[in-house]
Amino acid sequence: MEQEVSRSIFARVREVPADPIFGLNDLFRLDPRKDRINLTYGVCLEEDGSAPKIFTAVKKAEELLLKTEKTKTYLPILGDEEYIRQTGKFVLGPYWKEEIVVGAQTVGGTAALRILSDFLKNEISSEAALSNYTWPNHPQIFDRVGIKREAYPYWVDGKFDFDRFYRYLSKLSRKTIVQLQPTSHNPTGVDLTLEEWREVALLCDRNGLIPFFDSAYQGLGQGIEKDVAPIRLFLENGLECLIAHSYSKSMAVYAERVGALFVCMRDAKDRERISSNIASLIRTQYSNPPKHSASVAKLLLTHPDLNELWKKELEEMRLRIVTMRHTLAQKLGKRLHVDFSYIDKGCGLFSLLHLSKSQIIALREKHAVYITEQGRINLAALNPTNIEAVVDALCSVWQGSKAL
Ligand SMILES: Cc1ncc(COP(=O)(O)O)c(C=O)c1O
Repeated sequence: MEQEVSRSIFARVREVPADPIFGLNDLFRLDPRKDRINLTYGVCLEEDGSAPKIFTAVKKAEELLLKTEKTKTYLPILGDEEYIRQTGKFVLGPYWKEEIVVGAQTVGGTAALRILSDFLKNEISSEAALSNYTWPNHPQIFDRVGIKREAYPYWVDGKFDFDRFYRYLSKLSRKTIVQLQPTSHNPTGVDLTLEEWREVALLCDRNGLIPFFDSAYQGLGQGIEKDVAPIRLFLENGLECLIAHSYSKSMAVYAERVGALFVCMRDAKDRERISSNIASLIRTQYSNPPKHSASVAKLLLTHPDLNELWKKELEEMRLRIVTMRHTLAQKLGKRLHVDFSYIDKGCGLFSLLHLSKSQIIALREKHAVYITEQGRINLAALNPTNIEAVVDALCSVWQGSKAL
């Protein structure tokens, strides 16, 4: 019998594995258990575990827009110019200099990462180093654009080892893209000190490495200014670098998709060529960015009352995470007689737990506590009501384990 040959043009389409984080969220949604707890994806939930509420500052900005907005016509390809200027000042501070920075509004931080990766691959370099571990979408984006990647040691035997990290970076060949997170490192929650950042900046300069910052948590680590100090330190030392920025978390506007990219150069002569490349990449991917989210962000950055209110709401959220870090570290320490102070000292939404694959599965299947495959938990999804259940579940899977 002759084998039947499929006539479908899609018969050989390859299946791509589900995204590690969104895939788990799909599983979570289908889980019928009422007491299930989702510590997987990076959103700051409310105290009662409900979905993040819209900031009052955002609501007020939207009310103002409803009254004053006159048109929904296209934005320029690079986005709203005032939004870019204000975001440039917010991220780069005194180093926002229009003649040597190309800025563009992007569809969240992810599009900034993607556009910049495309730009780097097309024009500058096809080799990159990423931290081990990192946010799972980082390697996915590099793979998609065809940038060869390697992993630099960051989280080794349950801690950040600066010497190993630095030694590894110092062996990278010139023009290697080095992806860095200025604050609230995803997934470890452990950041470099400013002194360590200074050493890395000098190393990148000396060895011709290409710093590529992913700044998705400005204001949620140590505070708005401190969280971008590493980027500004690089610029202060005359380095060129690329930056992807996101407001998804800091303005709690996740679904509105608002972010920005910046390319900071030494020589103003390079500016037009860089800008033309970025514009072409945006034009051929999504043409131009959405207006509403940038208009809201612009108001939060410029309107004195809304700016003050937003910063207050952001700081409250940051402090809630700090409290949850402290509480979890204390509760686990008390129950297991192990030092969990690294959770307390960490920064931002995430921490890594020393859990084996089977323990992570047991957490999910037996205890309905969902965490990522890396062992990452989102502290901004913990609250006074669910924390005991999470501690109980962790103690149960860790019982008798040598991992601690
Ligand atoms: C490290 C990191 N970079 C970038 C992003 C992208 O954020 P956005 O939702 O704005 O695309 C995230 C989101 O989770 C993140 O954790």
